[in-house]
Amino acid sequence: MEDTWLVLDGCGCDEMMRGGNMETEKDTLILAIESSCDETAAAVVKNGRTVLSNVISSQIALHTIYGGVVPEIASRKHVEKINQVISEALKEAKVELCGIDAIGVTYGPGLVGALLVGVAQAKAIAFAAKKPLVGVHHIEGHVSANYIENPELEPPFLCLVVSGGHTHLVLVKDYGVYEVIGRTHDDAAGEAYDKVARAIGLGYPGGPKVDALAKEGDPHAILFPRAHIEGAPFDFSFSGLKSAVLNYLNTCEMKNEPVRRADVAASFQQAVVDVLVGRTVEAAEKYCMGKVALAGGVASNSALREAMQKACDSRGLKFYRPSPLLCTDNAAMIGTAAYYEYKKGVRSGLDLNAVPNLKIGER
Ligand code: KG4
Ligand code: ZN
Repeated sequence: MEDTWLVLDGCGCDEMMRGGNMETEKDTLILAIESSCDETAAAVVKNGRTVLSNVISSQIALHTIYGGVVPEIASRKHVEKINQVISEALKEAKVELCGIDAIGVTYGPGLVGALLVGVAQAKAIAFAAKKPLVGVHHIEGHVSANYIENPELEPPFLCLVVSGGHTHLVLVKDYGVYEVIGRTHDDAAGEAYDKVARAIGLGYPGGPKVDALAKEGDPHAILFPRAHIEGAPFDFSFSGLKSAVLNYLNTCEMKNEPVRRADVAASFQQAVVDVLVGRTVEAAEKYCMGKVALAGGVASNSALREAMQKACDSRGLKFYRPSPLLCTDNAAMIGTAAYYEYKKGVRSGLDLNAVPNLKIGER
């Protein structure tokens, strides 16, 4: 593969010179980097809401043969791709590094080796180009994706975060101020999708494949369980549902009965969607939130989007969700989250480290 070099000082201007241009001075440009899992991504975001570029190099095809993300392969691929992806993001945005105000980077949660590639690269650029560095929480990035296409959206609102590693109900009280009011006790929603997809032979990544197959099935064909957690009305549990699907498949096999995979996919999805939507609208009512948002990879699920829209409409709640490309991992959402942190004066040192189990709202 051809090497791609990042030009740090090739444009002949520095921050002092930039002061002469009133037009660019009032805009804040963030170069954002994301490498927490299997996408190498970089973006340039203006004033937190306008995406000038959003480059994503996906490793999905590479991991598909193993049935899931292989951390060591992910890290190596990030190393290979990151310079190219950042260069592309700057080029598409028609901006050089000297025109960037700050570097935003995901530093957790995620795979430690994968995160380290983005963090090391962001630190190197911040140091060499003398730019401030802002570490971003990956899930706060997912939440912030909602700001990009909804210029009128401001906190407070309630956000259901559903990704491969997280299922959280979050009160977004202000920019960068979060309170988690519900979480999963075991599997995340995306994890359940991926495991069920594997069990019915759909392979990785499971979510989009189950979503597509479910369209051909009957969501009421099989009654799978909806778990409630005693004393924690806004928490979730999906491991029982996953086991119920596996038991159903085993029983069919033992009885030599054919399995209608589309019905399994649709019925499983109905159980997930019922729980996610039900708990979200109940929480919105309890916490008097008039605005509800979705975030994370599972937020691109067609059945979830449709059901949440209906539930919000019938209760007079305003519903927001990013378009599918901004639901799954990308750097534009990291640029948006970094912008609001940057505006608050948050800066990370060059000792910024990857934190694989970083909690939301922690620094
Ligand atoms: O947010 P994300 O891209 O990465 C993490 O931060 O985890 O989410 C990835 C997860 C995977 O589990 C994937 O199967 C799921 O999101 N996903 C979906 C859909 N698209 C992606 N799940 C259900 N329906 C989809 N359309
Ligand atoms: Zn994610």
